[in-house]
Amino acid sequence: MSAKSNKKLRYAIVGCGMISGAHLNALKHIEEAEVVGLCDLIISKAHDRAEEFGVAKEACYKDCKKMFKELKPDVVCVCTPNGQHMPVSVAASKAGCHVLVEKPMAMSPLECKKMIAAAKAAKKKLAIGFQHRFTGKSQYMRKMFDEGVFGDIKFARVQALRRRGIPNWGVFGQKHLQGGGPMIDIGVHALEMCHYAMGAPKPVAAVGMTSTYIGDKKDKVDIVSSWPNWDYKTYTVEDLAIGHVRMETGAVLHIEASFAAHIAPKNEMDYQLMGTKGGCKYGDCEVYTDQNGHMVTIKPDFLNPYGSGGFDGPNSFFRAKLQDFTDHLLNGTPTIIAAENGLMVQQMLSAIYQSAEKGGKEVLIK
Ligand SMILES: NC(=O)c1ccc[n+]([C@@H]2O[C@H](COP(=O)([O-])OP(=O)(O)OC[C@H]3O[C@@H](n4cnc5c(N)ncnc54)[C@H](O)[C@@H]3O)[C@@H](O)[C@H]2O)c1
Repeated sequence: MSAKSNKKLRYAIVGCGMISGAHLNALKHIEEAEVVGLCDLIISKAHDRAEEFGVAKEACYKDCKKMFKELKPDVVCVCTPNGQHMPVSVAASKAGCHVLVEKPMAMSPLECKKMIAAAKAAKKKLAIGFQHRFTGKSQYMRKMFDEGVFGDIKFARVQALRRRGIPNWGVFGQKHLQGGGPMIDIGVHALEMCHYAMGAPKPVAAVGMTSTYIGDKKDKVDIVSSWPNWDYKTYTVEDLAIGHVRMETGAVLHIEASFAAHIAPKNEMDYQLMGTKGGCKYGDCEVYTDQNGHMVTIKPDFLNPYGSGGFDGPNSFFRAKLQDFTDHLLNGTPTIIAAENGLMVQQMLSAIYQSAEKGGKEVLIK
C-alpha cells in the first residue's frame, strides 16, 4: 500500500483504447496522482476518454511528442499496441518522463534494451505493466519461494489458454504490429507471474512451436466465440504456441498459450511449480509439501484482497501496479515490475518464437 507523500505525480496516457480505461480507473484511486494529458492517433478516442474521466479536451493530443513537450508530465503510461511500445517509451524517456509501459514490454529484447538505455540516459524510471504480480495469490506464492518452502525449483508448467477467444478489436491478429499472437499477448501474463514466483531466474535457452488453424479461416469467424467476427483477413499470428525454456538454475519451464484451444470450455491462466521440497498450483492457491512425516496441502483461508480484484476499483490489480510505481517514484520503495524483469520475459517469448521459426531448434538466450 502507499506510503504517504504530499506530492502529486502528473500522469499522461498514450493510446486511448481498451486498456487505457483500466489505467484511468486505477489512477482515480491514487491520491498522489492526477491525469494531465491523453493522446491517441485517433483523436476522438482521446476525447472520449477525456469526457469519461473528466480530463480537459484541450489536454488531448494526436502526437505524443507534442504532448510531452507542452504538458511535461511526470509519468507516461504507454497503452499503445506492442509495436509502438519502444518508440513511444523512448520518446517519453527522452522528454524527461518516467514510463510505465503495458505488457509485453516490446516486440523484441533489442527493443527492450533500447528502452532501458533511454530511461537510464535520462535518469528516469521504466516499469512494465505486470499486474498479476500484485494478486494475493502471487504475493503468497512468492513468499513461499522466498522462505524456501519449494526448495530448488525443477519444473514449472505455465498455461494461458482460451477455448475460443481471438480478440476482435485492436491489432492483436497482426504479427508485424504485435510481435505474435497468444504467446506474447496472454502467455506473457502467466509467464511473468510464474517467473516472479520462481525468483526470476535467468533464462538461457528455449525451444518452441507455433500453429495457426482457426484465426485466419473465413469459415470459422461466425462460430461461437467470446469475441466473434475477428478480422481473419489480417490474421498473421499463431492460434497455439508451446515453449520450453531452460533456466540458469537448471529449472525447466514449459508454457502453453492459445486463443483457440480445443479444451474444456474454461479459460486457463495458471502455473504449477515443482521443487525439491514442495510445489504449488497458482489457480487453486495450493502449496504441496511434507510436514511431520506427512504429505500436506496448504491452502490459505483468506488472502489480502488488495491487488486481486479485476480491472476497476480500489482493490484492482491495475490500481496496485500504478500505486506500486507511484510509491516507487515518490518514496523510493522497491518496485516489483522493474524493466529488467520485462527484458527477461521478452527474451523467453522471443526465443520461443525464433525456435518455432527454425522448426523447433534450440535458441540460446544471451
Ligand atoms: N495488462 C493487461 O491486462 C492488458 C490487457 C489488454 C491489453 N494490454 C496491452 O495494452 C496495449 C494496448 O491494448 P488495447 O487492448 O488497449 O488496444 P487498442 O487497440 O484498444 O488501443 C490501442 C490504442 O493505441 C492507439 N495508438 C497506436 N499507436 C499510437 C501512437 N503512436 N500514439 C498514440 N496512440 C497510438 C490506437 O489508435 C488505439 O486507440 C497492448 O500492448 C496490450 O498488450 C494489456
